[in-house]
Amino acid sequence: MKKTKIKIRWPNNSETHALEGDDWFSTAQKAGLKIPSGCLTGSCGACEIDVNGKTVRACVSDIKSNKKCFLNVSLTTDPFWEN
Ligand code: FES
Repeated sequence: MKKTKIKIRWPNNSETHALEGDDWFSTAQKAGLKIPSGCLTGSCGACEIDVNGKTVRACVSDIKSNKKCFLNVSLTTDPFWEN
C-alpha cells in the first residue's frame, strides 16, 4: 500500500512533506527545528508537540495522516526543560 504524503506546517512557518510513519525528530530537522528530548521512552514529556491542537509525545509517535493530509505543528514549552 502506498504511503500518504502529508504536508506539515512548522512554528517557523516552513512547510515540509513527510510520509505516514516517518518520525517527528528527523522531519523537524528538515524544517530547521529541533524538538527537545529527554528520556526517549515516552515518560518525561520533554518532546511534547501540538499537532493540530492535540499534544503528542514525539519520541513515541509516528507521523499520522488525517483526512486533509495536513498537519499544523507547534512546539510546547516546559519550564522544567528550559535553561
Ligand atoms: S523524550 Fe521523554 S517523553 Fe519523549
